[in-house]
Amino acid sequence: MMKRIPEPDLMNGDKQALAYANADFNEPHSLFIELFRQTFSYTNIQGHVLDLGCGPADISIRFANTYPRCLLEGVDGSKNMLKHGREAVIKQKLERRVDLICGYLPKAQLPRAHYDVIISNSLLHHLTDPMILWDMIKKYTTDNTSVFIMDLMRPDSLQAARQLVGDYAATEPAILQEDFLNSLCASYRVDEVTEQLQKAGLGMLKIRAVTDRHFIVCGRLG
Ligand SMILES: C[S@@+](CC[C@H](N)C(=O)[O-])C[C@H]1O[C@@H](n2cnc3c(N)ncnc32)[C@H](O)[C@@H]1O
Repeated sequence: MMKRIPEPDLMNGDKQALAYANADFNEPHSLFIELFRQTFSYTNIQGHVLDLGCGPADISIRFANTYPRCLLEGVDGSKNMLKHGREAVIKQKLERRVDLICGYLPKAQLPRAHYDVIISNSLLHHLTDPMILWDMIKKYTTDNTSVFIMDLMRPDSLQAARQLVGDYAATEPAILQEDFLNSLCASYRVDEVTEQLQKAGLGMLKIRAVTDRHFIVCGRLG
């Protein structure tokens, strides 16, 4: 089994943020929205939504377009990522519904005490301590909050990680291929996340692998 190799938490480099903002994440990001929709199909999704580690806001924007009765706050510690995010929000004419906040988790000051929905994609593997994400979730949820987290799963070996980069990012610029490899090596396995959830007292959330490289954690606390 490959040991986890952490990567820097914030994605603040100019080139890194630009490459990430311009990358084509249509497949995983539409899967994120589709799986959210399936998970909470019985619920009327509306109200205040928090997107933790929103980066250039592609998921925030897709979510806002899917659920027009939601107001979103995205938070990220990278000014460069948020610069691209704000441009994208303006382009989509969503300034009134999507607000991007620069803040470093877990200290970031958020405008609301609780949210109706909390989403996060590909933040967990960046955090210096994974419990930061689960503590944020406990702090900002009520029993009725819909929680939906997606992240990468660490493959068994470096060779398997390289294979995934070849399978899914072969045509991307070198900087993105390198980011993807580093992220796969920094990500957690399902058994490790299950342990984190137990430790956080969040064992009621469900975890499952949804592709050869992604898992989701979802549900409600109540
Ligand atoms: C891989 S990107 C994912 C961005 C976005 N969620 C998406 O799916 O496109 C991870 C983001 O988390 C941010 N991040 C990592 N650690 C953070 C922290 N402690 N506080 C705030 N943002 C953080 C990074 O700056 C980066 O924008």
